[in-house]
Amino acid sequence: MQDQTAQIEWRDGRVPVSTRFDDPYFSLENGMDETRHVFLAGNDLPARFLDGFHVAELGFGTGLNFLVTLQAFRASGCTGKLQFTSFEAYPMAMNDLRAALQAFDGLPDDLAQQTKFPEHLVGPDFTLRVITGDARATLPKWEGRADAWFLDGFSPAKNPELWSPELMAQVATHTAESGTAATYTAAGFVRRGLEDAGFSVTREQGYGRKRHMTRAVMP
Ligand SMILES: C[S@@+](CC[C@H](N)C(=O)[O-])C[C@H]1O[C@@H](n2cnc3c(N)ncnc32)[C@H](O)[C@@H]1O
Repeated sequence: MQDQTAQIEWRDGRVPVSTRFDDPYFSLENGMDETRHVFLAGNDLPARFLDGFHVAELGFGTGLNFLVTLQAFRASGCTGKLQFTSFEAYPMAMNDLRAALQAFDGLPDDLAQQTKFPEHLVGPDFTLRVITGDARATLPKWEGRADAWFLDGFSPAKNPELWSPELMAQVATHTAESGTAATYTAAGFVRRGLEDAGFSVTREQGYGRKRHMTRAVMP
């Protein structure tokens, strides 16, 4: 059987790079700031947080996006629970995941404490579910609907299966009324896929060296 665990090498001793996709898991500049700019601000967060707010993500990776979101949820003063569901085909080994997160100061330690990959983790103010398997097979079967989507596959050129029009249509089907989606890429076929799926799509200023990113709203 093919090994489905993430295959990692380290750049500058701190940024995990997938050898399967030949792409880093997060910005080489500053992963935390990128998450805040692209995925939080791109979905109007933290302003939209409320009890039970549901974030869904394509590509759990190191869990950095989850932890930065949880940190923002806690700082927002919102009471109740954050729901976070992520889809991941190649779960990282926990020692790699912990090593990747160690590079960031001040992150919640809710993942670093875990000994097993967090497929289902319930905290005092969050519920995390990581649905393992290829999102093309698992997302159509998911019964949830997200208020905000983080589309965070590897670059569309290297990981096109996570950006296909069919998958963007599934993202739309699993979006709540007035829900949103954001991604770091402004690739034309991704934008068109989101538009064809029913989203209103705009190009926004990107993070770091990226000129543009994409924001999508379900009317
Ligand atoms: C850029 S990384 C995500 C980074 C992550 N959000 C974080 O906070 O560290 C992209 C992720 O998508 C996952 N992935 C790639 N193809 C996939 C597929 N077909 N289904 C589900 N996940 C996939 C990869 O294994 C990888 O973890």
